[in-house]
Amino acid sequence: MTLRRYDIVTLFRGIFSGPLDESILGRVRERGLVDIRVHDLRDWTHDRHRVVDDVPYGGGAGMVLKPEPFFEAVDALRGPDSQIILLTPQGERFHHAMACRLAEARHLVFLCGRYEGFDERLRTLAGREVSIGDYVLSGGELPALVVIDAVVRLIPGALGDEDSAQQDSFAGGLLDYPQYTRPAVYRGLRVPEVLLSGNHEQIRRWRRREAVRRTVLRRPDLLERAPLTPEDHVLLSEIRAEGESEDTNRRGGHED
Ligand code: 6GU
Repeated sequence: MTLRRYDIVTLFRGIFSGPLDESILGRVRERGLVDIRVHDLRDWTHDRHRVVDDVPYGGGAGMVLKPEPFFEAVDALRGPDSQIILLTPQGERFHHAMACRLAEARHLVFLCGRYEGFDERLRTLAGREVSIGDYVLSGGELPALVVIDAVVRLIPGALGDEDSAQQDSFAGGLLDYPQYTRPAVYRGLRVPEVLLSGNHEQIRRWRRREAVRRTVLRRPDLLERAPLTPEDHVLLSEIRAEGESEDTNRRGGHED
């Protein structure tokens, strides 16, 4: 077991208490699998007011995060095998394959930007700039948490059930198949008969088929990159022959 360490540099440490302490992240930290530390950017200022921002050169509204505290933070935290990640909406879009690569890293340093922006020279610190999607958030804190949560799940031993990360949506390139638990009928909604049959081969085929169907209907873009077996291609042509039928268990219109 390789111990991993993640350092987060932020102006808002409070955002991280809670998310890092609960559920899988909390458990993984408690068990010592990952050492996650949250640092206040202001710890690397030297003036009495601990100022981290300044007016933009060239004028204009808003303030810009100064380079010095971030550079000193990285000087203090960086080791021989550190990867420095800058969270910014201008970064490369985060995805499963990136999470897999980051899960192999021993030391990650997350730099969270805030306010209207940061000094451009900060970019020279980061080996990687990451965004979590095409919308603007108030800072890099939530994105850092999103990345850390997705990455930690992929660390060997992080999840109780070893292969539950393997079976997640995206891990196999397809969306998940539908899951049911008791009761077998609820408010007139029935659990598919095959799942009650005890026939494991039929269940396996049904699940694969539903995963393919769901992906065709909801995320056809994923299919182009998914590693499909010959069996999947048969399922795919069957599903396409059936036409664009409703996804399972949709009722009363859509929620989004
Ligand atoms: Cl990494 N930062 C901010 N501020 N907004 C974002 C983002 C990051 N990713 C998506 N939106």
